[in-house]
Amino acid sequence: MKKYYITTPIYYVNDTPHIGHAYTTVAADVLSRYHRLRGEDVYFLTGTDEHGSKIEQAAQKAGTSPKEFADHISSEFRKAWEELGISFSGFIRTTDPKHESAVKSFLQKLFDKGLIYKGNYSGLYCVGCEKYLGEADLDEQKCCPDHKTRPEEHSEENYFFKLSAFQDELLARITDESNPGHIAIYPVERRNEIAGKLKANKLEDISMSRSDLKWGIPLPFDEKQTAYVWVDALLNYITAIGFEDNSELFKKLWPADCQLMAKDILWFHSVIWPAMLLGAGLPLPKKVFAHGFFTIDGQKMSKSIGNVIRPQELSAMFGADAARYLVLSLFPFGADGDISWQALKDKYNTDLANNLGNLVNRTLDMLEKFSAKLIPEPAAASTAPACADTILSQMGSSELLLENLEFHRYIAALQMSLNSANQYIQQTAPWKMAKENNPELPAVLFNMAANLKALTVYALPFMPNICKSIWAQLGESEDIESVAREYLSSADRNKSKNILSPRPGTATQKGGILFPRLEKK
Ligand code: MSP
Repeated sequence: MKKYYITTPIYYVNDTPHIGHAYTTVAADVLSRYHRLRGEDVYFLTGTDEHGSKIEQAAQKAGTSPKEFADHISSEFRKAWEELGISFSGFIRTTDPKHESAVKSFLQKLFDKGLIYKGNYSGLYCVGCEKYLGEADLDEQKCCPDHKTRPEEHSEENYFFKLSAFQDELLARITDESNPGHIAIYPVERRNEIAGKLKANKLEDISMSRSDLKWGIPLPFDEKQTAYVWVDALLNYITAIGFEDNSELFKKLWPADCQLMAKDILWFHSVIWPAMLLGAGLPLPKKVFAHGFFTIDGQKMSKSIGNVIRPQELSAMFGADAARYLVLSLFPFGADGDISWQALKDKYNTDLANNLGNLVNRTLDMLEKFSAKLIPEPAAASTAPACADTILSQMGSSELLLENLEFHRYIAALQMSLNSANQYIQQTAPWKMAKENNPELPAVLFNMAANLKALTVYALPFMPNICKSIWAQLGESEDIESVAREYLSSADRNKSKNILSPRPGTATQKGGILFPRLEKK
C-alpha cells in the first residue's frame, strides 16, 4: 500500500485559531481524504508550537504559566479542528515529553558531528516573528514590518548551527529534479526565489539556542541554554512519528510526501529544515508547498484592526462543510488573495445553495413525486441519455488538479459537472414527461440519482458530512467512504463504476434544506 505523509505547520499557541490556520489545515485535510479514497495509507500530522518568547510573554500577560496557557490554547485548536471535521492522524504538541526528548537526541547528534558550536551573537530579535532581523528587514521606524514592533537587542553567548556547510548541497537538491534526494518546492516561482537567494548570498550559520529564555527545551550538551523555538518546532515532523526510537512508523513514513505552509515560513522549511536533516543524515521531504497569504477586505488580518475571522464564525455562518469548501474556492492555492464575508456569501449562494442545493432538492423531490420515493428501474432499452458517465470521466481527469493542489480549479470543475447535472434535469423536464406519461421517465429519474451519486464521490473530500447526508437521502445504506474508496482506488474504473449505480427499489428519504440561502445583508 502506498503511503502518504502530509503535514501542516504547527501553530503558535499565543492566540486562538483563525481562518489563516484553518486554510492550511483544511487543505491538508482535503488532500488526506482524497489520498485515503485512492486507497493510500495516509498519515496526517498537525499540532501546536508551544515554546519561545512569544508564548512566554502571552502567558505572562494572561497571568498564567506558559504550560497552562499552552494547554488551554492547544485544546482550542483541537476543538476548532474537530468542528471543521479535520481528520488528522496525529496532533503533536512541542511540550510533549516524547517530543522534548527526541529534540534532545537530534541536537546531540548534530553536536557530536561538529555541526553545532558555541559563539557570540548580537542582533535584533523580533518576538512576533521569533527570529533575528537584519537592519535591512526593518521599516522606516526601525520596526518589524509585519509586527510593527521594535525588535529587541540581544547580545549573548549561544550555540550556532553550521547552516553555511550545506549551501551547495541544498542548491543541488532544490534545483536538480533528477537528484534522487530532490526536494520539490512549489509553486515553482517560489522555488526559483529560494534558489536565487541561495545562489546570490552566502548562507550564514544561525544561532540555535537562547541563554536568557527559560521556556524552551534545554540543550542536552548545555542545560543552561534552551533550543531556539524554530529548531524545536521543525523537528516535530519527525519526533511525532517516532524518530527517536527509529520506530516502524518513522521508517514507513519519513520522508514526508507533502509539507504545507504559507510563504511566510517557506525559508525555514526549504532551507533551514532541510539543512538540519542533511546534518543528521536523513532524507529530505519530497514536496514542500507554500500557499499564499490572504488579506481580509484588502487589509492584513489583525486583532487591532478587528477583522480576524475565526473558524467557529465560519461554521456558524455556513456550516462546517460549506466553510471547508468555501475557503479553498476563492483564489488559487499558491497565490495571495483577498477574502471577505461578502465574497464567501456570494460563493456560498451560487455554488452551494443554488447549484448543489437545488440539484439535491429537485432530484429528491421528483423521486418523491414521480416514483413514490423509490429509485426506479433504469429500463434496459432506454434511450434516455445518461450523464453520470460523463461526470465520472470529467471529474476523473480533474483528479490531477487535486494532486497538484489546484483546489480552486478542481472546485471549478466540480461546479461544471454540477451544472451539467442541473441541465440534464432542465433538458429532460421530468415534470413534462410525467404529464405525457412518457415511458422514459423512470430511466431519467434513475439517471438523476446516478448523477448525484457520482458528484458526491467527488465532493466528498471537501464536504464529508454533506455528502453522507445526500447518500442517506438517496436511501443508500452503504458507507459512502467505503464505496467511494472502492471506486477511486480500483485499477479499472470502467469496470467498477457499477458500484456507484443506484439500486432500483431503494426507498429515498428527502431531508431538510442542505444550504439555506443567505440574504445579501
Ligand atoms: N509556529 C510557526 C510554524 C512552525 S512549523 C514547524 C508559525 N505558526 S503560526 O501560528 O504563525 O502559523 C503560520 C501559518 O498559519 C502559515 O504558514 C499559514 O499556514 C497559516 N496562516 C496564518 N495566517 C495566514 C494568512 N493570513 N494567510 C494564509 N495563511 C496563514 O509560523
